[in-house]
Amino acid sequence: KLKDNTIIIVLGASGDLAKKKTLPALFALYRQSFLPKDCKIVGYARTKMEKDDFHKRATSYIKGTEDAETANQVEAFKELLTYVAGGYEDSESFVNLNKHLEEIEGNYQSKERNRIFYLALPPTVFIPVSKNLKEQCYVNPKSGVNRIIIEKPFGKDLDSARELLSSVKQYWTEDETFRIDHYLGKEMVKNLLVLRFANIAMSAAWDKNSISNVQITFKEPFGTEGRGGYFDEFGMIRDVLQNHLLQVLSILTMERPVSFAAEDIRDEKVKVLRAIPPIEREDTLLGQYVAANGKPGYLDDSTVPPNSVCPTFAATTLWIHNPRWEGVPFILKAGKALNEAKVEIRIQFKDVTQGIFKDIARNELVIRLQPNEAIYMKLNCKTPGLHTRAVPSEMDLTYKRRFSEIKIPEAYEALILDALHGDHSNFVRHDELDVAWKIFTPILHWIDGKNGPVPKPLSYPYGSRGPKEMDDFIKKYGYRRMADA
Ligand code: BG6
Repeated sequence: KLKDNTIIIVLGASGDLAKKKTLPALFALYRQSFLPKDCKIVGYARTKMEKDDFHKRATSYIKGTEDAETANQVEAFKELLTYVAGGYEDSESFVNLNKHLEEIEGNYQSKERNRIFYLALPPTVFIPVSKNLKEQCYVNPKSGVNRIIIEKPFGKDLDSARELLSSVKQYWTEDETFRIDHYLGKEMVKNLLVLRFANIAMSAAWDKNSISNVQITFKEPFGTEGRGGYFDEFGMIRDVLQNHLLQVLSILTMERPVSFAAEDIRDEKVKVLRAIPPIEREDTLLGQYVAANGKPGYLDDSTVPPNSVCPTFAATTLWIHNPRWEGVPFILKAGKALNEAKVEIRIQFKDVTQGIFKDIARNELVIRLQPNEAIYMKLNCKTPGLHTRAVPSEMDLTYKRRFSEIKIPEAYEALILDALHGDHSNFVRHDELDVAWKIFTPILHWIDGKNGPVPKPLSYPYGSRGPKEMDDFIKKYGYRRMADA
């Protein structure tokens, strides 16, 4: 249930994440009447700004303001917003923020007070901010709830993540903490539970007996343009594989949870992740884009250090040592500056027994997360006519067609609403993060040159499918292109 008298405090309110994701998501919830009664939103950041200025910035990314109804709603939404300027390290600023919050709460009818702190901030200030919030802005738990929402990067390897986690934990309990991985808010990722466990036909084929290999692919058609400074410190594996793609993998492969309760789901995710050993070098392929088609290469980005060997493309193969998945390769691959925007899961099934059919295409189940959400199954079908010839065909569940009247919510809308409800199912638990880092830390240390020479990534042209070596890499794990069938 939503709590009345809630204030959502967006820290880092003048930054990119808040402007592009957090505030538009809050508006979307507002216009669908999903915000709690009397909810207020307070922006907080270092930049000094007048209220009007903040209002303008806070709503600049809201789409559809050209229609009169939305424009009116935006005006009404602005009434919920106030802004406080202050630093992140000094406690004075937070005393000031607290005063502002108390003023708002002074107008509430009942004594109940709930505060949700959304940290749209760089990780360098996570610790001082969580400390200051706890010490200066925490409401007495007898009067209401306090929650803190934080977002990756949670450290750079196992040790730094543990340090960060335990520092934040000094102030905020696990129950009060909501760690966002926004892929968990995506419609198709949320659908995995239903697709797998509400369909006996799927459940029955979901193992090493039927499945040959799985690919989870993330493709972006743009480079790091302007964001190279941040990116170069992290690289593709930390930016996307270790969190977003691994989260998808864990839901795709976990055992059936006993209920929808957050801890039941997260227990199963942790269990399957614990069955994955650290990634081996030979199961890894790294790439970096170079200038092509009039587009700049990674090293041409002025925010990137010259000679950087940071991977902008990475493919890694993971193995799950449990009875369901022993021997099935799970290939995670992600790249920037590729030929298209696409995120998909591709499950390739094994060959049918040869005999009456020869060289027949394999079944594939494709779950497209974005864009244009869809689930389709490649099936062999007899071509109509007076002969028996099989052709690869498709059973197609494209969301735009099947659910044309429904708007698919943005991941951030879904997650903020979950946090308002206090539901942790789609947030990352501390032990999940720990095991995710265990899987990736050795390979990351190798890439960082911590135990030997730094590996040089393969080049690929901006706008291509990635390094040309990738096709052989995938083949090595048994993936067969339909055309090869
Ligand atoms: C972020 C990464 O976490 O996810 C970005 O830092 C990436 O580099 C983004 O572009 C992708 O998110 P989405 O929702 O656009 O697929």
